Amino acid sequence: MPEGAPAIRATSLPVHMDVELSSKCNLRCRFCHLSYFDPKEVTQFSLDAFKKKIGPILPHLAWITLFNKYEALTCRDFVPIFDYVAGFGIETYFSTNGLLLDDAIIETIVGRLTYLTISITGFTRDSYKRNMKHDGLDRLQRNLDRLNKRKRELGTRYPILRISTVGMLDALDELEMAVDFADRHDAEEGVQLTAFKAHHADLVELMPLTDPDAYTRASRRARAHAQAKGVKLVLQSGSIAENTADTEALGHRFCDLPWHRLSVQPDGEVYPCPMAYEPIGNLAGESLAEIWRGERLTAFRAGVNDADNMNPDCAGCTHCRHRSLTRPEVNDYSRAETYPTGMTRKPAG
Ligand SMILES: C[S@@+](CC[C@H](N)C(=O)[O-])C[C@H]1O[C@@H](n2cnc3c(N)ncnc32)[C@H](O)[C@@H]1O
Ligand code: SF4
Ligand code: SF4
Repeated sequence: MPEGAPAIRATSLPVHMDVELSSKCNLRCRFCHLSYFDPKEVTQFSLDAFKKKIGPILPHLAWITLFNKYEALTCRDFVPIFDYVAGFGIETYFSTNGLLLDDAIIETIVGRLTYLTISITGFTRDSYKRNMKHDGLDRLQRNLDRLNKRKRELGTRYPILRISTVGMLDALDELEMAVDFADRHDAEEGVQLTAFKAHHADLVELMPLTDPDAYTRASRRARAHAQAKGVKLVLQSGSIAENTADTEALGHRFCDLPWHRLSVQPDGEVYPCPMAYEPIGNLAGESLAEIWRGERLTAFRAGVNDADNMNPDCAGCTHCRHRSLTRPEVNDYSRAETYPTGMTRKPAG
């Protein structure tokens, strides 16, 4: 624990769950881990399994995040699962590429889902296609138009929208267009810029740390444009200068995530956080409450913020909000054979 850091007490049960509904995606974006790593198991939550395994914890939660590394809307039971969760009055959130937002899903989430992030990198038809590897920009815009029309009909601000875009150095010249896109689609939470990590050698030169000045210049320009338009712009990891200061002592930002939050994959494996490599339990044999109070999570917590005895996961933390932007080893995954939650590199060729 760094000097002066607050002592952390775990809540009696998690108050925030990250539940991956499906380990599939309809896209293979050029920057995404999914293009280079395979999940441990391609599977998804059924409504039954969700009710049985996650249901008992729902009355205790303040928050539930319904995605992590894949695409929640590929889950066959997304609509009934969301209907079920909505009955508990919890704040709900997920991030999506938005292409599968059909009328049934729109009807289910409008007025009930708290936050929805739409991920898009590339704001012209060509650049969208280059980055998302699919000619889907028009469809996304139509889906967002339908979603916003339904929000207006019901007189609701929910789901509150945010646009998320990946800050690869060769995509930064479209940051102002991202701001315009957020404005055009009434994204109350504006634009979030995610700091890019590279999963393939060809992409290493596009990491912010390769050219911090270009990153700083582009983000300043976009900030000025966003301010003029009255649109929020958030750099998820802070500016390079802020991030360097925040991560200097530990190698990552001080983190209290596993003291209030727990993460589940659709195969039932439970992780101390969405970026951990090793599970601390499995819902096949244990309940979430047992895992929360178990020895494996206690041992993991001891190594989160202790610079002398840090968990390898935390020393190499890849979580956007906790990660150092300037240490190559936590931004360059081009040679990694494994990735958090049991992903393994795809065979060459
Ligand atoms: C992996 S996706 C999963 C959820 C959903 N499929 C989506 O795209 O929003 C979650 C977020 O990670 C971002 N992302 C993907 N690959 C990234 C990378 N290499 N560096 C930084 N952010 C990345 C995506 O843009 C997206 O906003
Ligand atoms: S849509 Fe999301 S999960 Fe799918 S490939 Fe793109 S970034 Fe990855
Ligand atoms: S891996 Fe990162 S997000 Fe997870 S507990 Fe460690 S520091 Fe926190």
